[in-house]
Amino acid sequence: MENEIEKLVREEIKRIAPYVPGKPIDELKRVYNLEKIIKLASNENPCGCSPRVKEVLKENIDNINRYPDGSGYYLKKALSEFLKVKEDEIIIGSGSSEVISLTIESFVKPGEEVIYPFPSFIIYRILVLKVGGIPIEIPLENDFSYNLDKFLEKITPKTKVIILCNPNNPTGTIVYKEQLKKFLEKIPDNIIVISDEAYFEYVETSDFGTCFPYYKDKNIVITRSFSKIYGLASLRIGYGIGRSEILNYMERIRPPFNTTELAQIAAITALKDQDFVKHSIEVNKEGKRFLYENFEKLGIEYTPTEANFILCKFKQDATGIIKELERKGIIIRGMKSFNLSNQYVRITIGTEQENKLLIEELSKLHLVGVSGRLRIVK
Ligand SMILES: Cc1ncc(COP(=O)(O)O)c(C=O)c1O
Repeated sequence: MENEIEKLVREEIKRIAPYVPGKPIDELKRVYNLEKIIKLASNENPCGCSPRVKEVLKENIDNINRYPDGSGYYLKKALSEFLKVKEDEIIIGSGSSEVISLTIESFVKPGEEVIYPFPSFIIYRILVLKVGGIPIEIPLENDFSYNLDKFLEKITPKTKVIILCNPNNPTGTIVYKEQLKKFLEKIPDNIIVISDEAYFEYVETSDFGTCFPYYKDKNIVITRSFSKIYGLASLRIGYGIGRSEILNYMERIRPPFNTTELAQIAAITALKDQDFVKHSIEVNKEGKRFLYENFEKLGIEYTPTEANFILCKFKQDATGIIKELERKGIIIRGMKSFNLSNQYVRITIGTEQENKLLIEELSKLHLVGVSGRLRIVK
């Protein structure tokens, strides 16, 4: 039977490696007999979400027998006012990953090339392979910074899309304003640039190169998320910004009810609570400083981040460290799935208490024989 299925499935799908999910939290609790789990593995907001969101979800729970407004009319209106863009310059997705997917599905033909950084968000490769496109992965520099000239060098007549992950997951590095300006000037009109800005709210530097000032004049789709700073990851809601000529085509293949009514209402409410956003930014900033300081004390190498996670490099294979922390109820993310060496881990910045517990446990581990201070990657 299995062999028959293998003959039926599309070749493109066979080339995609199966995704290996982590254990559910409840399962970890059960296995290690733990009361509490500190999850620092998926770049979620450790502060939760705006309290008002929880209230509106309860207030609207009675309508779940009805289909949602598929167009996301009120959310588009709210975003249009918030961002000062036209409503038809916004598309709503089941998470920003769906907007990335709709862009690639709308524009990339089989055999066309999509350029994106390495290491970066894993779904780019999956989405490109899914449509029969050719992934062109550009290694970031040794310190994981972007060199956009290397992206430009890889442009061929087959290039259809270039993805900038900004800030980049898992490195937390960014494309700077000047760099972006020069890069976009050289991008021909037959290429679509996707600017994945899922973490942009966390950026501290004023030199950050968002594609927002350019989307009206260029073929750009900016993707943004309610999963991160707004704390709505489980509700699956995000959006894209682009010229209506581009988004019109993406709207044609968007599943008609891709986002739920509750997710739309939650997003509108979350958008209104900018105090919660400010609080989350502060918690992240303080957590970042605290972790930097302590990583340095412990001799753990790290890449300075503009997001809510930090890429760390241990002197040895980190698999044992990840396992030991897991036993204590702290989950961090090993980077083998990102095709980095097993010395790398990505740690989401938690609350003050979570960060302290992480450092306590890391200190106890004594980093299995690591001694001396390591160089910090700048
Ligand atoms: C760079 C990047 N883009 C997009 C996403 C997806 O976010 P969403 O939940 O909005 O689909 C993630 C999630 O981790 C991410 O790291």
